[in-house]
Amino acid sequence: KENAIAQPVGTTLERYIMRKQAEFPFATGELSQLLRDIALAGKIVNREVNRAGLTSIIGAMGQQNVQGEAQQKLDVEANIRFIRALTNGGEACAVLSEEEDDIIHTGNCNGKYVVAIDPLDGSSNIDVNISIGTIFSIYRRVSPVGEDATREDFLQGGRRQVAAGYILYGSSTMLVYTTGHGVAGFTYENSLGEFFLSHPSISIPTSGTVFSCNEGYWFDYPQYVRDYLMQCKRQGQSGRYVGSLVADYHRNLLTGGIYLYPPTSKNPSGKLRVLYEAFPLAFLIEQAGGTAESEHGPILDIVATEFHQRTPLFVGSSSMVNLLLTKSVGAV
Ligand code: AHG
Ligand code: MN
Ligand code: MN
Ligand code: MN
Repeated sequence: KENAIAQPVGTTLERYIMRKQAEFPFATGELSQLLRDIALAGKIVNREVNRAGLTSIIGAMGQQNVQGEAQQKLDVEANIRFIRALTNGGEACAVLSEEEDDIIHTGNCNGKYVVAIDPLDGSSNIDVNISIGTIFSIYRRVSPVGEDATREDFLQGGRRQVAAGYILYGSSTMLVYTTGHGVAGFTYENSLGEFFLSHPSISIPTSGTVFSCNEGYWFDYPQYVRDYLMQCKRQGQSGRYVGSLVADYHRNLLTGGIYLYPPTSKNPSGKLRVLYEAFPLAFLIEQAGGTAESEHGPILDIVATEFHQRTPLFVGSSSMVNLLLTKSVGAV
C-alpha cells in the first residue's frame, strides 16, 4: 500500500499487527486477533517441541490419521493446542486440520474466519531433533455468520486466502506470514516470550543454486524432473533436503532455490496437501516474488474439492521453477 509504514526491525509482533491494522481504516481487528491467537499457539507448541525429549511426548501415538500416517504424539499435541487457541480466541468459526478427518467447529459461530492448518509439519523429524513447523491458511467465511461453517468455507480456492504463514521450530523459532501485502518474518525471543520483527520484507531471489527433493524417489520421478535435476547437478548446484517442508521452504525463501515434491508411485498425485501445505506456501511465495506450480499450472489455481486432496509441488525461485516447467512441456 502506498502509505505503508515501514516498521523497524525489533518491533514486537503485537505493535506490528496494530500498526498494520491502522493502515486499513475498515479493519475491525478480527484478523489481527486471529493472528495473535496463532502466534500464541505457536509459542505453546514451541515450548512442547523444545521439551519433547523430556516429557515423553516423542514417539508415535500408535494410531493412524486420515492420511494413513502413523500419528506422532507431537502431531496430536500440536493439533490440540492450535484448535484450543483458535477456539478460545473466538475469531475462527471452524478449523480444518491435517490431523482431523472433518471440519472442527469451534462454537464461535459469529467468527468471520476459518483456518486450515498443518499443526506439525515434518513429523518424521520430531524424535531426531531436526527442524519442524506449523503451516496455516486463513479464509474469510462465505457461509452466514451466526451459523456453523460449511465445506464451501474451506474450498474457496487458493486465491481467496486472506492470510497464510508458518512457524518454523528451528535453530531459532520464527513466524513468517502474509496478509497479501508482502511477507514479514518474526523471530521468537524465548526469555521474553515475544516475537520480534527480524525480516520486515522477505523476497525470494529470482534464481538460486539449491534444489530440495527426496532423491530416494529418483526412479519414480517423471523424466522431465530427472532431466532438470541432472542439469542442476551438471551446474554444480547444491542438494539440500531436511525432510521438513517448512525448513526446506524457509531456507530456499531466504537464499533462493527450488523445492520439488513430484508424483511418485506411492503418491501418484503428489504427497503434499493442497489446503494446508501447498496453498499457504504458494500464497507466501507469490507475495515474496517467487513461483509455485504443480504439473498442471499454478498451485493457487488448483480447484480444491476434497479437504485432504494432494498435489505435486514445485515451489521457489521463479527462474528455477520456470526452467523445470519448460522441460515438462509435452511431457505431462
Ligand atoms: P507432515 O509431517 O505434515 O505429514 O508433512 C511431511 C511432508 C513434508 O514436511 C516433507 O517435506 C515431506 O513430507 C517429506 O516426505 P518424504 O519423507 O517422503 O520425503
Ligand atoms: Mn506437512
Ligand atoms: Mn503435519
Ligand atoms: Mn503428517
